[in-house]
Amino acid sequence: MARATASSPRPEAGQGAAPRHVAIIMDGNGRWAKKRLLPRVAGHRQGVEAARRIVRAAGDLGIEALTLYAFSSENWRRPQEEVSDLMGLLRLFILSDIDEFANAGVRLRVIGDYKALAPDLVSLIDGAMERTAGNRAMTLAIALNYGAQFEMVRAVRAIADRVQTGEIAPAAIDEQMIDTHLDTQDLPPLDLLIRTSGEKRLSNFLLWQAAYAELHFVDTLWPDFDKQCLVDALAHFGQRERRFGGL
Ligand code: FPP
Repeated sequence: MARATASSPRPEAGQGAAPRHVAIIMDGNGRWAKKRLLPRVAGHRQGVEAARRIVRAAGDLGIEALTLYAFSSENWRRPQEEVSDLMGLLRLFILSDIDEFANAGVRLRVIGDYKALAPDLVSLIDGAMERTAGNRAMTLAIALNYGAQFEMVRAVRAIADRVQTGEIAPAAIDEQMIDTHLDTQDLPPLDLLIRTSGEKRLSNFLLWQAAYAELHFVDTLWPDFDKQCLVDALAHFGQRERRFGGL
């Protein structure tokens, strides 16, 4: 049987089942700061605290994979100061939390075109991924310089290369093959996608992988998102009947 990858339907994940793979669009840091008359970076700092809290909570709740949208390929359009604040926070997050991940059995993965980031950040990420590669308790995937459309473009280019060399025929290209050329190739199927702060958009996040995922939109701003919010999202997921196009 074909191996289940990030976009495959998972019929066994029906009513009452726990999601294996949860992804979150962490939105609302700026508004959280604005409400308190604080600079935007203060919202991002609290956003990192929330991310830390949710990684621990996801581990406690037995989630196999958690994917966090930390920096989109569109986020470069923000003021340069904010981009550099975000990069600094990411650096700090990896540096300060890598020991905890390593000890807690968390495997760190980065999805997106992260090789285009600053060279020191790229080596930090590569080192952290290498160090935790054998961990099995949970996978934390951080989406960095990520855009779903460009992820698909990269997958198509890789497949086209294989066609060009004669390794595969065009007719051999199917959903499964596309799945295995995406950045999420080694993650379980995406079950639940959460977006905070009241916006109801996917913003170029996991577009292929979300084909059968349940979508959960909450008004809570990301810095206020806590373990109970995650528990509520999982409960909501457990109540839904997933039919994957069947009856
Ligand atoms: C959205 O809030 C958030 C981001 C663009 C960045 C997300 C980054 C973090 C939470 C910190 C880093 C994460 C990790 C995993 C270390 P926004 O600024 O768009 O908020 P707004 O819509 O209210 O302005």
